[in-house]
Parts: sequence; structure tokens; C-alpha cells
Amino acid sequence: MADTLTGTRLGPYELRALLGSGGMGSVYRGYDPALDREVAIKVIGGAAMLPDALARFRREARLAAALRHPNIVHVYSFGEAGGRLYMVQELLPGPSLADLLRRNRRPMPPARVRALVGQLASALDYAHAQGVVHRDVKPGNALFNAAGSLVLTDFGLARDARLHQAATGAGLVMGTPGYIAPEQAVGSGGVTKGADIYALGVVLFELLTGRLPFVAETPMGVVLKHLYDDPPPPSTLRPDLPPAVDAVVLRAMRKEVSARFPSAGALAAALDAAWPDQARRSVARSRPAASASIAARASTRPAPRKAMRARAIGEHESVPARRSPNTPERRERQPSPAGAVRAPRRATIPDQARPRSTAPAARAPATPAYGGLWPLRVGLLTACIVGILLLVGFGFDQATLTRGWAELLRIVTP
Ligand SMILES: Nc1ncnc2c1ncn2[C@@H]1O[C@H](COP(=O)(O)OP(=O)(O)OP(=O)(O)O)[C@@H](O)[C@H]1O
Ligand SMILES: [Mg+2]
Repeated sequence: MADTLTGTRLGPYELRALLGSGGMGSVYRGYDPALDREVAIKVIGGAAMLPDALARFRREARLAAALRHPNIVHVYSFGEAGGRLYMVQELLPGPSLADLLRRNRRPMPPARVRALVGQLASALDYAHAQGVVHRDVKPGNALFNAAGSLVLTDFGLARDARLHQAATGAGLVMGTPGYIAPEQAVGSGGVTKGADIYALGVVLFELLTGRLPFVAETPMGVVLKHLYDDPPPPSTLRPDLPPAVDAVVLRAMRKEVSARFPSAGALAAALDAAWPDQARRSVARSRPAASASIAARASTRPAPRKAMRARAIGEHESVPARRSPNTPERRERQPSPAGAVRAPRRATIPDQARPRSTAPAARAPATPAYGGLWPLRVGLLTACIVGILLLVGFGFDQATLTRGWAELLRIVTP
């Protein structure tokens, strides 16, 4: 839709800038002078010409406005002016989940995928409990708010056959083809929450793999695949995924509504169970709870150099870190603080690779050097002194002794 409305008024609202256009119309950043706040205004062109479309729009807008949930856009009001329908909503700063997927070049980590799906599921469960089916769940209709939470927009509005026909002049009812459930593709009548659960399965597929399960040259080609083809298991595109995650996606996207998850929340819970954090799993296996939480804090907080060093040691040299303070190696290190820092480094390879008997063996040469030779030396010295005293006692004077000593040296020295 061409932007002919920026700078004009729609009822009491000022249309300040075009935020974007979709299948139903355009969304503007607007201003509400009565409440002195910025709002988002969705304008649907042409629909007012069909009386039953207008009645339906009113009903949907009332339902959407009654929804109060942190992950559902707040609808403030709606109206008709200048031959156009409009809906005034909370202005979300974005980006949309579609923007995020476009920018994201790396596989999304499990915790992130689980959190996003959990928020969408929470919104859908709430809406379904109020009797509202979204009918156009897709990343373009999920925007981040200022707090970083994901918020679903366009509840109940989209994919109304008559409204869509009036807005676009098209004769064919078409959800967003990439996310449309088979039963929705063959007619919007009788669409239930199962269609939202199917679309959430497609969104999950896209979050996991970065692409849609069905791709074709034309929108109709995509719809036909939703009707007749089995989606590929996501692990064929992202091999690190556990088979249990494949099972979650494939169940959400089953052709028969009754074979899907009974609720969006059940889908999110199954995903949580199928794909726990690898870090969480390995920490649970290898560390007691207290040290695990210390490690988690250390890994999320910018650390001073000393702490980083300690962390590096802790992560890569876990054997010395866990050793009992009473081991002989530890006692040996205690005298010097420098030794205490160096010790884990030294211990890394030897403690794991060398046999336990190596440490005593390394000290073995020192034992005879100090413990064994001293008695010998003391004995020799005592023998010399006793000998000299005896010689003096037998009447040899010093000069005779010196001469005798020199004579002895002459004989011994070659
Ligand atoms: N409440 C909002 N606050 C801020 N931006 C919004 C809001 N609602 C929609 N937008 C943005 O306005 C643009 C147009 O939205 P619109 O719903 O018309 O198109 P769409 O979601 O791409 O397609 P569809 O018609 O199928 O919903 C999108 O870029 C969307 O992110
Ligand atoms: Mg939209």
C-alpha cells in the first residue's frame, strides 16, 4: 500500500511515519494527543466497503483489546475514518523476530530458542483460553518490547476471508504461506487453536535451522507442500539437534490437528524436556550444586585478571582444584604463596598421567644424601681426633707428626 497517510490524521490520531506494510494494510507510528503518547496504528484500506467485514473487524478488535497478557500487544482502541478501518495499539520498539532471524547468522542456542518459544506459547495458551485464535502466527507478527520480551501482534485480525478480500481485492484466502496449517489453507472456516500450534511448530523449525520447512517457487507451491509433504526433520539441517527435538517439531506440524500437541504450552514443555542446556547437563553430572553456581556466576560476569586466571585454572585443571588439602603434594606447596599458584599448573599433566608412586621416587635421591652420610662423617672425624690424641699420648711431638703426615702424603700421592 502506498504511503499517502503520513502527516494526516485518522480520527483524533496523527499519523507520523510509516513503520511498514503487510498483507492487510500498513502500520504507522502515530500520536494520541489526548493521552500525549506515541502509538502504533494499523490501517486497513478498503475494508469498510463491505458491511459484514466491518462487523467482523469490530468483533475481532474487541476480542483482541480484551486480551491482557505480557506477551500480547495491548490494543487501545479501533475505529473507522475516511473510509478506512484502523486499530490503535501499543508501540513496540522491535525488532521483530523476523528481523532477528534475518540478522542471525549462527545457530540459536537452546536456551534462547526455548525462551522465545516459551513466550509465544504463553501468549497463545492465554488467547486460546479466551477463545481467540491468532491465525497468523509468524516471526513478522512477534516484536520485542522495550524490556526484551517477545510480544505477539495482529491477534485474530488476519486471515479473515472477507476482510482480506476487501483490503486487497484478492479472491484467494491465503495465510502467510510459509506458516499456514493444512486445514487453514483449504478454508479459514473452522480454524482452531491447532492452526496456531502448527504455525508455532514452523516458527520453531525456523528458529532451529534458520530456514522454513517448505520452500517452493510460488506461494501456492508452498501451500501444497504444507498440505501433502512431510517436513524434513530439523536435524537434517542442524546435526547437533537431539532426535527428541525433531520429534517435537514433527508432532507440532502433523497434518491431522488431533495428532498435534494439545496446547502451545505442551509444545514448549516438550521442547524444554527434549533439549536441556548442554552446559546444564554436564554441570549436573560433574559438579556439586554449589560449585556449579559459582562457575555459572564466574562465566557470566566480567572478571578481573586474577579471577579470570583462577577461572581458567578451575575450568581446565579441575583435578588439582578438587584435591583434598591434606594430600602430600598440597602440604609440600604450602610454604610459598608462589608455589601455591604454580602448583596447579605443574599438577595438570603429572597428576593425571603419572602413577602415584612417582612423587616419592623423585624425592628418593635426597634421602641418602642427607640422612645416610652424616653418621659416616661424624664417625671418621671422631676416629681422627682419637688417633691424634693417642699419638700425642705416646710422646710424638708436633714436628714429628707433621713430618710423618707429609711422608704419608708423598707415598699416597702419585
Ligand atoms: N504494535 C506495533 N508497534 C510497532 N511496530 C509494529 C507494530 N505492529 C506492527 N508493526 C510493524 O509494522 C510493520 C507492518 O506490520 P503488518 O502487520 O502490517 O505487516 P506484517 O506483519 O509484515 O504482515 P501481516 O499483514 O501478515 O501481519 C511491520 O514491520 C511490523 O513490525
Ligand atoms: Mg503483522
